[in-house]
Amino acid sequence: MGIRYLEKERLFVLDTPNTTYMIGIVSKEGFLGHLYYGKKLENVTGAMSLSRVNEPPYTPDTNDRDRGSFMDTFPFEYASTNVGDFRESALVVRDGNGHSAVNLKYESHSIEEGKNGLKGLPATFGEQGSVNTLKILCTDPETGLKAELSYSVFEDVDVITRNVKVVNETGDRVWIDKIMSMCLDMEGKSYDTLTLHGSWARERQEDRKTLGFGRFSIASLRGESSHQEQPFLALLEEGANDVAGEVYGFHFVYSGDFIAQVQKSQFGQIRVLMGIHPEYFCWELAPGEEFQTPEVVMVFSDAGVGKMTRNLHFLYRNHLIRNPWLHKERPILINNWEATYFDFDAEKLLQIAREGAKLGIEMLVLDDGWFGNRYDDNRALGDWIVNTKKLPGGLRKLTDELAKIGMKFGLWFEPEMISADSDLYRQHPDWAIQIPGRIPGRSRNQLVLDISRKEVRDYIMEQMFRVMDSAEIDYVKWDMNRPLTDLASAVLPGERQGELSHRYVLAMYEMQERLIQRYPALLLENCSGGGGRFDPGMLYYSPQIWCSDNTDAIERLKIQEGTALLYPLGCMGAHISACPNHIMGRNTPFETRAITALCGTFGYELDITRLSDEERHQIPTQIHIYHAFQELIREGIYYRNASYTKNHQYDCFQVNNKEATTVLIFFTQVLAEANMHSRFVKLQGLNTGKRYRIREVNLQKGDFMKDVENIVLKNTVSENMISEKMISENIVSGDILMNVGIQIMRLNGDFQARLYLLEQMDEG
Ligand code: GLA
Repeated sequence: MGIRYLEKERLFVLDTPNTTYMIGIVSKEGFLGHLYYGKKLENVTGAMSLSRVNEPPYTPDTNDRDRGSFMDTFPFEYASTNVGDFRESALVVRDGNGHSAVNLKYESHSIEEGKNGLKGLPATFGEQGSVNTLKILCTDPETGLKAELSYSVFEDVDVITRNVKVVNETGDRVWIDKIMSMCLDMEGKSYDTLTLHGSWARERQEDRKTLGFGRFSIASLRGESSHQEQPFLALLEEGANDVAGEVYGFHFVYSGDFIAQVQKSQFGQIRVLMGIHPEYFCWELAPGEEFQTPEVVMVFSDAGVGKMTRNLHFLYRNHLIRNPWLHKERPILINNWEATYFDFDAEKLLQIAREGAKLGIEMLVLDDGWFGNRYDDNRALGDWIVNTKKLPGGLRKLTDELAKIGMKFGLWFEPEMISADSDLYRQHPDWAIQIPGRIPGRSRNQLVLDISRKEVRDYIMEQMFRVMDSAEIDYVKWDMNRPLTDLASAVLPGERQGELSHRYVLAMYEMQERLIQRYPALLLENCSGGGGRFDPGMLYYSPQIWCSDNTDAIERLKIQEGTALLYPLGCMGAHISACPNHIMGRNTPFETRAITALCGTFGYELDITRLSDEERHQIPTQIHIYHAFQELIREGIYYRNASYTKNHQYDCFQVNNKEATTVLIFFTQVLAEANMHSRFVKLQGLNTGKRYRIREVNLQKGDFMKDVENIVLKNTVSENMISEKMISENIVSGDILMNVGIQIMRLNGDFQARLYLLEQMDEG
């Protein structure tokens, strides 16, 4: 079942098909030691020596004189505090006397089939048989504090997830000042760290650097996972790359303040920690109460970063995203934000919808500005009442008109926010998060609602439900456009103010849960000023998240590359927008914008009534291509072949079906070069002994759609379905494509993208 306890050795062995993780109970005192995580070990004889307790300073039961040295070098499974381990701690709990020493020892364990949910938190899950859980109960004998360390082994995706629950059995009130979800002590080795940094409109850019002595961390204190730093950290052995080398990946299933930290100690030992950021955090536990941490996903790959990526994709698709749309074709939507911003009325929306419907678009999404007196972004958040000056007859009238042309409807909300200029704020100023006597910092001129208060979130949900029930609404975009500052809740007592930011996240999860429970068929897309809350926690509620407010195709190459490092393509909200791009001022060909959006959820974010005829004519073709390939893109296996962020010239990735018989190649030449020849880009995951027919999917030719229609009807891509005149055809062995590469002919000009279809030939 993937989890064993070897009684004689006092050893826990957790196995997935390609990895092993081992924990040992050491010495009479019962220290819990981390022995190994890495490549699968078939035979674990002698594993206990990995804790090095057979050499000085030995365990305290052999040599108590050097307890301090033991504490500061032993590879702890979950680090202690204030008892001699001077490396970074995992758990800091203070008692009423102000003492905060914690020293956890093994008490008992259980091995269970399946995996429980985490109360109030998003978490991975699995069908019976696909996941099993080890729970190790530890205790601090001096205080009676208990900590349960949980490990769930997902054998089908080579992943282990972890979380910690602390139970206050001390008999007195205690305060948790710090609690990490994961602590991993590793043997010293030369590693690089890989993280994703960014900012608004430039989310999730890869950053790799050599790990030195001391501490390196990435974090968010913004009340959301943030544009700036993704709750993800990987350690890459020296020289590891996309296809080779050992890689450890850690990803936090949480959407608020976090820290991911790695420390290289005096002896070169490495400790990785991940959890809720302790800085604004303090949680009071009454006797008998417990605190549950969010979980961390751990993945080990012995074949480079790419394998880590694919295991995360498999985990998220199979064991995290719950929405019924996960495996379904998402409707092609047109969102009015970049088309109109706040300047719209029903007639303008219907013009866009009618033109869109003619060309094959299936849903109109009405973005910001439909409620209260929201004529700009300075006001009205919190007043979720339809503005009937803009939309006479309300949403019902609009959706009735849309129904006549067969268009579905989606709506934007920003439920967690309040404008100072709103009826809601005038009624309830104390509902905003702010510190009495201090002018709160505004961002986009708005404040954040204290949704940790039940009456506040109940009120907002009621307003939302009233709107949702007033018309047919198939999709919701849930936005969050500013970070949290001035943390203070009008109702929490002084000693509990440190609970606000975590309570906020739990409240937001509860609100999203209520929304999806009430409308089970709803397609929910999360968003936060673009991609400021793109994390595994949010995927538990919505199958897709808006990647970035930057819709420029070339900037999107980088943003989507970083996003796809961790997340399946089907999660990435991506739309075609107008040129010059509103953020970059850059012009890119319409086909390039289409190809970049096709590798995400696909849709349009422009005023379709203002497109040139040439562009408009391409839309039905794009839509047919989306229908033909969306399943492959959504469910397929992703491989990165070339990175524009690294080579500064071109970008290439591929998506294979499970059998690698159908493959799509996305290629973009960002910068043209003089006297350029064709280039060969190595492919991955193909059947080397087979031959592949390579065809270029032509997005410009209107009549291409006829061929694609066949594909859609038969729900398969096979020979003769794409007329020969549309494509250049080539037959090449999988061996050549993998070891030499696919030949990409010289393209004329900057920003040129191409889509290639490979089909394995029937060798008859
Ligand atoms: C955020 C979102 C945008 C749009 C605006 C509306 O910036 O990321 O897509 O919804 O808010 O105000």
